[in-house]
Amino acid sequence: MKTPRTMTATPAVGSSLFRLKAPPHRATTRNLQAIYPFLVDSALGSRGVYIGRQAGSDASFVFDPWELYVDGVITNPNILLAGVIGRGKSALAKSLALRMTAFGVRVYVPGDPKGEWGEVARTLGSEPIALGRGLPARVNPLDPGHRPKRMPAEEWQREVLARRNTLLASLAETALDRRLQPVERNALLVALTAVTGSRDPEIGPAPVLPEIVHALMNPTEDTAATLSMTVRELAVESRPLALELRRLVVGDLAGLFDGPTTCPLDFDAPIQVLDTSRLAGDDTAIALLMTCASAWMETSLASSRAGRRLVVYDEAWRMLRHLALVRRMQSQWKLSRALGVANLAVVHRISDLGAVGASGSEAVALAQGLLADCSTRVVYAQESDQVDLTATALGLSDVEADQLIHLPRGRGLWRIGRHAAIVDHVLAPAELSAVDTDARMRGNR
Ligand SMILES: Nc1ncnc2c1ncn2[C@@H]1O[C@H](COP(=O)(O)OP(=O)(O)OP(=O)(O)O)[C@@H](O)[C@H]1O
Ligand SMILES: [Mg+2]
Repeated sequence: MKTPRTMTATPAVGSSLFRLKAPPHRATTRNLQAIYPFLVDSALGSRGVYIGRQAGSDASFVFDPWELYVDGVITNPNILLAGVIGRGKSALAKSLALRMTAFGVRVYVPGDPKGEWGEVARTLGSEPIALGRGLPARVNPLDPGHRPKRMPAEEWQREVLARRNTLLASLAETALDRRLQPVERNALLVALTAVTGSRDPEIGPAPVLPEIVHALMNPTEDTAATLSMTVRELAVESRPLALELRRLVVGDLAGLFDGPTTCPLDFDAPIQVLDTSRLAGDDTAIALLMTCASAWMETSLASSRAGRRLVVYDEAWRMLRHLALVRRMQSQWKLSRALGVANLAVVHRISDLGAVGASGSEAVALAQGLLADCSTRVVYAQESDQVDLTATALGLSDVEADQLIHLPRGRGLWRIGRHAAIVDHVLAPAELSAVDTDARMRGNR
């Protein structure tokens, strides 16, 4: 066969030298997706912040969980981001934050254990709130937050009481590493009620943890009578609970969460970051601190006046090791649609979600619920032993699963509802310094 000299003039252009043996197959793009799912998918729409380019087609890829929810593509706005160390998970979360704030989204980072969000906050004009021993910032996790516009005062009072009670219970459960007994649960509630009395959450000062601990340790005739117990009985029953909570007041964690807030959240700022990188202590201490820190930040989320918000739990896998924290996260996830909040949790692998308990336990059920409550799952590279589990948990096809071990830095498999795309996250030059976490590895080179 004569080789054509130019690529334009002959009928041979585009044909192969050997005839393909496979029979021709014709199908619609809709059906072909079953074989190769990464075709540009028009169902994902064209509204949202720019993320990068779709591998293969080079088409732009944009994302907006609120728009996709309104369009019925997803059933909730939450996002799970999983990937091995150093593949660009935090970089993606930070880009989302930087780009979404340009569209009026407010970003909250209730815990920054590596202290890597400061630059992002400063780029957007706000200073992160750093917590740690010897630092001036102190936050009161029992702060009431803002009353939603149309909520009557009485309902608000009940809501604040319930929220404070849930927070105290999860602190106690984390510290005791077990569920509270019914007596303890009730002891907490009566102690809280005794401290706050009929104080209006909007007028009176917010209660502080030392007051709650004092009330638990020194029950009165009245509080004991509420539970048909003697003062002595109630004091004995609530002693372990009181002693564990005391740790936050006079123990190794004193000075952080045991007084009035010294640095209120700025509700109008585009981003608020709680820098928890200087908190030291054992695992339980960190969990207690994260509970306080996230509860404090979440009070602001209860208000729907703030519009669309993105809450980033970078390094969420640390929280997933504590059952009480998983429970809190799940209730926050469930509220997301009502509040206009999209939660973004960053983990290493899907199995982090089940790491909190034995198979079949409440913990695993909660973690699976959390996964179900994330309509958008972004998977960066996985270790080979994680591929099957990831594929099963996310319902990936073989073609999709095959990609997981080979994904280079910045490239992720996006599963949005039933749709899939492989996307290269493109960093803008202006974002580079805010997302760089390799600087220390490079040293002075
Ligand atoms: N899309 C990208 N293009 C170019 N560089 C990137 C991209 N994504 C991340 N990087 C770079 O890779 C480095 C590691 O990224 P990042 O800290 O986001 O990883 P990570 O997955 O969050 O890691 P870890 O699990 O340790 O938290 C950073 O210095 C970042 O600048
Ligand atoms: Mg990271």
